[in-house]
Amino acid sequence: MNENIYAQCDDYIQDLFAEEDQSLKDIIKQIDENGLPQQSVSAVQGKLLQVMAAACNAKRILEVGTFVGYSTVWLARSLPADGKVVSLELEENHAALARKNFASCNVSHLIDLRVGNALKILQKMKEDNEAPFDFVFIDADKPPYVEYFLAALELSRPGTIIISDNVIREGNVLQESTDEKVIGVQRFNKTLSENTRVVANIIQTVGSKTHDGMAIAVVK
Ligand code: SAH
Ligand code: DHB
Ligand code: MG
Repeated sequence: MNENIYAQCDDYIQDLFAEEDQSLKDIIKQIDENGLPQQSVSAVQGKLLQVMAAACNAKRILEVGTFVGYSTVWLARSLPADGKVVSLELEENHAALARKNFASCNVSHLIDLRVGNALKILQKMKEDNEAPFDFVFIDADKPPYVEYFLAALELSRPGTIIISDNVIREGNVLQESTDEKVIGVQRFNKTLSENTRVVANIIQTVGSKTHDGMAIAVVK
């Protein structure tokens, strides 16, 4: 088998379903120009997020981990005109780039970017009795994935879809590990599998990015 078959098929899927406009392509270029890691979702994964947001008719979306906003733009572009993505980011320099990108992608009006520690912001959202979200994308630092998920559950309603990125990590979840990211997602996957408030599963993701996985949970 051609070892590039997954990347080739990803290009094929992208050409059919997930074409990027110039403003999305520019975000990927900007990440390199700023010496930042290419840790955004792929275009095909961005389109998967849109499909899942459509499945729950999402008007209010929560994203944990904005980075420079590539996934946020895909999510915003799934929304009706009166929808909102609330996106949480710790690093001010990432948030500054994200703001620029939201403007060049013409989605600023659809995004509420909040800068700070996501756990604290989520806690505050609960205290403030913010309206529940229809769709949640968890993609920030991996060690507190369980805590992000439990906080997201508290901000959900029956039918809310919660997707968590990078839960397979090239198969490193199969073995005991000293990597805090691997340990974080192992703990998350176990917790998710035992949680009775959701019906959940993991799909492996292959393509232009390294082998990984997304956990998909629907709140009962
Ligand atoms: N969702 C983005 C990629 C996110 S990368 C995309 O696909 O385009 C993970 C981001 O989480 C990084 O920008 C990192 O700064 C941020 N992050 C790390 N720890 C965080 C925390 N405690 N609270 C909020 N964001 C955090
Ligand atoms: C990592 C984080 C991500 O969100 C991602 O999509 C890929 C890798 C990481 O921290 O290794
Ligand atoms: Mg990710």
